[in-house]
Amino acid sequence: MNQLDLKNRVMVVTGGARGLGYAVAQRALCSGAAVALWDIDADRLERSRAELSELGSVSAVKVELTDEASVEDAAQRTVATHGAIHALVNSAGITGGNGLTWELPVETWRRVIEVNLIGSYLTCRAVVPQMIAQGYGRIVNIASVAGKEGNPNASHYSASKAGLIGLTKSLGKELATKNVLVNAVTPAAAKTEIFDSMSQQHIDYMLAKIPMNRFLMPDEAAAMIVWLSSEDCAFSTGAVFDLSGGRATY
Ligand SMILES: NC(=O)c1ccc[n+]([C@@H]2O[C@H](COP(=O)([O-])OP(=O)(O)OC[C@H]3O[C@@H](n4cnc5c(N)ncnc54)[C@H](O)[C@@H]3O)[C@@H](O)[C@H]2O)c1
Repeated sequence: MNQLDLKNRVMVVTGGARGLGYAVAQRALCSGAAVALWDIDADRLERSRAELSELGSVSAVKVELTDEASVEDAAQRTVATHGAIHALVNSAGITGGNGLTWELPVETWRRVIEVNLIGSYLTCRAVVPQMIAQGYGRIVNIASVAGKEGNPNASHYSASKAGLIGLTKSLGKELATKNVLVNAVTPAAAKTEIFDSMSQQHIDYMLAKIPMNRFLMPDEAAAMIVWLSSEDCAFSTGAVFDLSGGRATY
């Protein structure tokens, strides 16, 4: 595994208790960063913290990302523990299952937007002021190729990720002169526990669309995300990086 220089850097990874967020945390720790895992699943959070602590300094913060006060509290607790926040990776997300737009429950549609879009907005809102104050920050939002193309039977998810791409572009421009860079990645399907919330038909649809004819591996996603979270990423902001095995055409 290639290593970046993340010594003395503190990274927050939302959804870090499992899946892509866990892989990002693992890779960041191996590059010398201290990591704060933010997640709603307290049991899994503690298990992951214990596993990852073999690699370096890692803390676990229980947070409900759709709740402004909970996010603010998580940011304060993280700064109290680690002294600062230099990088934020927004990995927490849900699919809300699959269904036709007019048949999905309204509450499910709203919840997906709340977690995937509003949650990421709230974490950015909580950390950006101190990133500006310290003159350095890196934010990486994990969107999805679904946000670029719009997957059938996943309008809530696709819309939330399209919104996250829009947030990335706007915030990137707002912070362009502050050395706080904001980028997004658009993965195709990676076999994590998020698959449990999707129909087999939908998973087959996504795989069939990937020219490389295989799923993305979490460590492949982590390699790009951790690079985007590092100082080596210096002239890219408000940008969207492909992780789709050839599916995305723009
Ligand atoms: N795995 C894929 O195929 C894939 C493809 C494209 C994009 N993505 C995106 O990548 C990100 C990570 O996906 P993953 O596969 O690791 O998912 P995952 O289900 O394995 O992990 C998501 C984590 O987010 C946490 N979470 C969910 N809601 C939360 C909330 N309200 N507050 C705090 N934490 C919350 C969960 O507890 C979980 O630990 C998601 O945003 C997902 O949409 C995943």
